[in-house]
Amino acid sequence: MKGLILAGGHGVRLRPITNTLQKQLIPIANKPIIHYVIEDLVNAGIKDVGIVVGPNKEQIIEAVGDGTKLGCKITYIYQDEPKGLAHAILVSKDYLKDEDFIMYLGDNLIKGGIKNFVNNFKNSDNSLSLMLTEVPNPKEYGIALIDEQKKVITKLLEKPKNPPTNLSIVGIYGFTKEVFEAIKHIKPSWRNELEVTDTMQWMIENNYKAGFEKVVGWWKDTGDAKSLLAANQLILDSYIKLEEGTKDNLINPNIQGRVRIGKNCKIANNAIIRGPAIIGGNCTMGEKVFIGPYTSIGNNVSIRKGEIENSIIMDNVIINTKERLISSIFGRGSVFETKNRIPHGNKVIIGDNSRIEL
Ligand code: TTP
Repeated sequence: MKGLILAGGHGVRLRPITNTLQKQLIPIANKPIIHYVIEDLVNAGIKDVGIVVGPNKEQIIEAVGDGTKLGCKITYIYQDEPKGLAHAILVSKDYLKDEDFIMYLGDNLIKGGIKNFVNNFKNSDNSLSLMLTEVPNPKEYGIALIDEQKKVITKLLEKPKNPPTNLSIVGIYGFTKEVFEAIKHIKPSWRNELEVTDTMQWMIENNYKAGFEKVVGWWKDTGDAKSLLAANQLILDSYIKLEEGTKDNLINPNIQGRVRIGKNCKIANNAIIRGPAIIGGNCTMGEKVFIGPYTSIGNNVSIRKGEIENSIIMDNVIINTKERLISSIFGRGSVFETKNRIPHGNKVIIGDNSRIEL
């Protein structure tokens, strides 16, 4: 079985970050989102993976390479414009041939993995299989109706006004080659995209069997700033192992809890770093700097002064402020400097190489 990761798209909701950085490469706990996705496929035994890329393809190719380091073989598939998820499947036809495949949206994270989902799809006679999860706000998602025996999906609805269930479709799908027959029959939607939901609804209406599996643990679509920060929290909490009581922690009692610090960092004796947090290599933390829980800091970052919590700070950022930054995202190479005292609790989202002076 093959894997198909979708890593094109404009990522409009994450501008300005995505003006210069493809969404699937945004780091969560200092690792690009797409690396988690590939690892998940490899853990489920899928070693032949196609990645759909758009005009920013070089960025993805540089970050992922031929897949050897991640334990799989990668084939890149070019989609000239993001014309929809079903269009992305269509442009992958030569790569997929007639094989069954798992499609994984390149900006989705799921804690429990997809091993069971993949195995159950392999051993079924389903033409389509979806992962579903219960959501508190079903009006905002693609929703699935299931039969009384809770075995098959009977209908799909896109962002319904009166949702009949709270079972949302997540960004992981199993397809057989019949999907290509379905795509032939659908038309572009009001937003001029070939929609995968329309494709799957056509399959269901034409009696192709659609199974499902419920997500175990959490699922996050990292499409906007709020969910990106939520994903960062979840990953820092549970996905990666942060070292407790490392040499640094023992020497410096101000490094507290589960904190991972990269090589060649200079941390002032009275700076406080409170985990869960991760700091890359070659970083400097000045006098009385406070790094609070749920913060991910990349490489070569200099925090000369300031307090930061629940934030993602990418590589080469400089921060020098009297203020406390919360729930913020800093793109690569950005500078944040406070020159005059302003009220506490700034909330900022700034793009790569931008500079703010207050
Ligand atoms: P979306 O999040 O639906 O779209 P987007 O990434 O363009 O973001 P926005 O809505 O903020 O503009 O896409 C889901 C995933 O699928 C994401 O990883 C991008 C990818 N994708 C493609 O590869 N090709 C496409 O044609 C589309 C629409 C998305």
